[in-house]
Amino acid sequence: MALDPEKIPRHVAIIMDGNGRWAKQRGMPRIRGHQVGADSVRAVLKACRKFGVDYLTLYAFSSENWVRPKAEIRGLMTLLRKFLREQAFELHDNEVRLRVIGHKEDLPDAVRAELDRVIEETAHYQKGTLLLALSYGSRVEITDAVRAIAEKVRCGELAPDTITEQTVAGHLYAPDVPDPDLLIRTSGEYRISNFLLWQCSYSELYVTPVLWPDFREAEFEAALVNYQGRHRRFGGIQ
Ligand code: FPP
Repeated sequence: MALDPEKIPRHVAIIMDGNGRWAKQRGMPRIRGHQVGADSVRAVLKACRKFGVDYLTLYAFSSENWVRPKAEIRGLMTLLRKFLREQAFELHDNEVRLRVIGHKEDLPDAVRAELDRVIEETAHYQKGTLLLALSYGSRVEITDAVRAIAEKVRCGELAPDTITEQTVAGHLYAPDVPDPDLLIRTSGEYRISNFLLWQCSYSELYVTPVLWPDFREAEFEAALVNYQGRHRRFGGIQ
């Protein structure tokens, strides 16, 4: 089925899952799954430009992932740096802006420096945005927002009875980014895993059994086609 260019989701968020299983099935070390998974990131980013998706948010490292073996964390951080070094050219060529949501300060200095460089260099681009969720947890994000709002109340800057949904949304990590229209999860698990809990309130969910390292343009297009068949009601009855 062909894609309707009029109904492309503006923002797609992805829980990239199944790297470890992909490697295990092949008798390879887990890091190999993450390496091939990084190629899927490149492919999906390219597909977003091809199909006209403006915002892509990827759950690359959760606040809970820090409990993984040190060697795996090191391997993931190395991959992230490699990705930033190699992908920066593509971001420039396509005028795609890089942003991070999460506690960036938890990351090793070398990764943070690379991230800050690319974030700064691409900050003025407007053709697309890649948001990497790094050391990210949605409950922490909401807690951070509550703390910032409480501080404003304490200072007398904000009155409690004027706090609305917009106030809360406005204190999340990327308040100017529209909510995801589509949330994809690979590897067949039906879980949100502490990802964008506030922002995905009305997102369409798409779960595929395909493991992340095998998720490329064709699988992404299939997710968009499926999304286009949905009838979004946002709580209404139309
Ligand atoms: C989940 O698979 C995946 C991750 C925790 C990390 C995702 C990282 C990448 C795709 C590579 C690097 C990222 C970028 C942005 C270049 P899992 O390990 O939980 O898989 P499993 O559930 O099968 O064990």
